[in-house]
Order: sequence, then C-alpha cells, then structure tokens
Amino acid sequence: MIILIIGGSASQNLAAKVANLLDEQLCPIETRRFPDGERYVRIKDEISDEVVVIQSTGYPQDENFMELFFIIKNLKDIGAKKVKVVIPYLGYSRQDKRFKPGEAISVKIIAELLEAAGADEIFSINLHEHKIIEFFNILAHDLSAIPLLAEHLSSKVDDPVIIAPDKGALDYAKTMANIIGCEYDHMEKTRISPERVETRIKNLDIEGKSAIVVDDIISTGGTIVNASRILKDQGAREIRVACVHPVLVDDALLRIFSAGVDDVIATDTIKSEVSVVSVAPLIAETLKNG
Ligand code: R5P
Repeated sequence: MIILIIGGSASQNLAAKVANLLDEQLCPIETRRFPDGERYVRIKDEISDEVVVIQSTGYPQDENFMELFFIIKNLKDIGAKKVKVVIPYLGYSRQDKRFKPGEAISVKIIAELLEAAGADEIFSINLHEHKIIEFFNILAHDLSAIPLLAEHLSSKVDDPVIIAPDKGALDYAKTMANIIGCEYDHMEKTRISPERVETRIKNLDIEGKSAIVVDDIISTGGTIVNASRILKDQGAREIRVACVHPVLVDDALLRIFSAGVDDVIATDTIKSEVSVVSVAPLIAETLKNG
C-alpha cells in the first residue's frame, strides 16, 4: 500500500528524511501566511488512502498547530481514509494540569482538537509527562529518542557519568547509562534550613569525571545552567548536555555555554543549531512496524 508523507512547515526536512528511509512518496504541499497573518494550506498532489503528517509544534506553537489542524481536516475532506499524525515535539505539554483554579488544561484541549480535526493515530516523542497519552481517545504513542542520543554520544565520550538535573529526568539518565554502559545519578534538592536549599548530586563523586547532563527539554536553560554550575563546583572535568527537545528560548544556549558547558546536543524534533541527532530513523521504524 502506498503511504504518502506530508511535512508541515516546521518539519519539512525531517519528513523528507522519513519518506526517504521508508521509500515512500513525499507529498508537495503549499503552506504560507496571508499578509494579515492567517494561514493558507494546499495539498498539491493526489492523496493516498493512508497519509502520514509530520509537524512539530514548537515556536510559533499556535501557527504550527493551526497549520496541522488544517492539513489533517483538509486531508479527510479530500478523501484520506486514515491520517497518522507525527508530532515530534508536542507544544503546550507543560500545561497538563490545572495548577491554579480556572486554568485551561491546554494539552488536553490540543488532544481533543487533533481528534476533532480527524487524526486517527498520534505519535509523539518523549512527551513531557507520559500520562498526556491518556488525554487522547485515539491510539497515541510516546516514543523515546534517548537511545538515539546515547548512541551518538557513546562514540564521543570515554567513561562518562550521566546526570539527571532533577529526579524527573532520572529515567532518561538510566536509559542512557544502560546503553553507554556507565554510571548515572540525579541531582537532589535538600533543605538545609528554612532559608537555604542545597542542590547536589545524590550519590556519585563527580571529581575529575566527564559528565553528561540529560533532560527532555531545554527551554530557558535555567535547569541546565544550575546543574552545570554545581557539576563545575564539584570538580567535573568536562560537561556535555543532551536533550531531546531544544526549545531554546532567547539566549538559552549562550547562557549554557557561559556556565562552562563544553558541548550541547539535541534531536531535530525541533530545528535548532544543536539538532545533530535525527529522530527520522525512530519515526520511520515505528511507522514501518505499525
Ligand atoms: C522540567 O520538568 C523539564 O524536564 C525541563 O527540565 C525543563 O522544562 C527545562 O526548562 P528550563 O530550560 O527553562 O529550565
């Protein structure tokens, strides 16, 4: 069966790589902005029964989502029977609960809108919280790009220690350490007094070691800057940083390098100057097996 691959404007290169790996056709589409800012979408080829749409939803999130809704709904309107939607980075994921009364649970609304647009199956990568999957009533998958980052790093570093900057990232550190074959740990905040909180590495001695800090997202860079300063203070010889989603707000990269980090790598779930590891093989393999 022929499957058509469509790349939204945020993931054109990634979509082309996936199409190439699957030996499937990349469908030409036109997406642009009208002078007043409204979005225009046109599918420029005959479509097949099954279509895969790949569109990341980092900045500008609202535009990328609107374009994605238009593509999905348009495909269904012009005859696609099944639309699989790959969203490498799912924007709005950090608003996954009502932190204050009256707040919108944004990512839940996004899940409902994707379904209403006609998505039949969703694939995303390292969702900020795995339970986001439960907001979808259609089949949804949370893939992991940590093994790809680990494989990339394993040839570049000698006997590193993998550090999670907080307990939430511990699973990523564990997965990466198991693949590279090294130790891992996480940073922990301890309250010394009502006024003082100390962040330190839970168990390992980092003195003279090469550290790899791993996290799902780098947004402002604050988490990584804090972790890197602590690693420097505790004598780390070298600090590398790996993340799946390089959101990289403003001068986040500059702040990270200024904190003494030697290298930053990320995947291409979001386009950035540190997106050196492609998630295309992960997406292609998943689609092939699905
Ligand atoms: C937090 O739960 C996430 O895993 C990241 O640590 C966080 O989103 C990073 O944000 P920032 O770069 O702004 O510190």
